[in-house]
Amino acid sequence: MKLTVITSSPHRKGTSALLADELIRGAKECGHEVFRFDAAFESLHPCLGCDRCANTGHCIHQDAMEQLIPHLKEADLVVFVTPLYYFGMSAQLKTVIDRFYAINQELMGSGKKAILLATAYDNKDWTFRALEVHYQTVIHYLQWKNIGVLLAGDCGSRSDIEHSDYPQKAYEMGKNLRE
Ligand SMILES: Cc1cc2nc3c(=O)[nH]c(=O)nc-3n(C[C@H](O)[C@H](O)[C@H](O)COP(=O)(O)O)c2cc1C
Repeated sequence: MKLTVITSSPHRKGTSALLADELIRGAKECGHEVFRFDAAFESLHPCLGCDRCANTGHCIHQDAMEQLIPHLKEADLVVFVTPLYYFGMSAQLKTVIDRFYAINQELMGSGKKAILLATAYDNKDWTFRALEVHYQTVIHYLQWKNIGVLLAGDCGSRSDIEHSDYPQKAYEMGKNLRE
């Protein structure tokens, strides 16, 4: 299976990066092919809504999306990784998803699978509610299939998550991927 993993935290050694690392480790051990895109460390511009892509098929921006798009198109599974920022996804991840717009028709109905990995300081029953609904709505719209959501509450710092079982859960998600 081909995985495209999109991380989005500016903390290279942060909590959400650890979940991504562990899922990737499990997936690679089972022979899956992984492309990782660390959005926070790439040059990316937000969608301008100019609709240039509707006329030319290409986004007006020339930036790191050009590296990501081929891997998005060929992915069997897209893994979205985000810290919780004001009850939603990070701006870095939202920027990437908004830029799906230029290739929407190719992504929609392409039968891809999707996973969401997220971390947060809080762990109330509503902490991840808005993020999860947003993720599920995007996946529903694209007609992709959600195959897993890992929401790591009480994980505001690296030490919190290292002392939790979430890294092991992420590893097992990677290990248990099926075609
Ligand atoms: C701008 C910002 C907004 C945040 N919003 C929330 C929030 O709404 N709820 C919450 O529980 N934690 C929130 N946090 C805490 C982070 O989600 C948490 O520290 C997370 O572990 C950071 O992940 P990272 O290490 O991968 O960057 C926020 C942190 C920042 C910097």
